[in-house]
Amino acid sequence: MTSPEDESVSWRLTGPVSELSKKQCRLIYSSDGRDADVCLFHVNGEFFAMDARCAHSGGPLCDGDIEEADGVLQVFCPWHDYDFNLKTGKSSTGLQQQVYEVKLEDGNVYVKHASELSLQPFGQVKEN
Ligand code: FES
Repeated sequence: MTSPEDESVSWRLTGPVSELSKKQCRLIYSSDGRDADVCLFHVNGEFFAMDARCAHSGGPLCDGDIEEADGVLQVFCPWHDYDFNLKTGKSSTGLQQQVYEVKLEDGNVYVKHASELSLQPFGQVKEN
């Protein structure tokens, strides 16, 4: 049983490792709409997931450059070049990008997230 606050957060299937490891980064769509989309990074054989819209002003982190310095992997937002640690989501600017746990199981990549995730855009977003 999960505690009430965790109820909606669960492992979400995003796709096969064989497909998702082909690109360094891809946008994963959220059923909660654009602001909840996720970037799935695949760097040095490891997967990382974080919110796709930059915590600064919503820039597309999936289009950012990825660099490694002193063993730390970072993505640089294409809009104003803020850095975000792929593992922790921390930025040297003091901002924090939301990151998500990733697990591999039976050849698939799962991300722990509150909404459903998909490689294809969801249709109409339901209104509450
Ligand atoms: S929107 Fe990402 S650094 Fe400004």
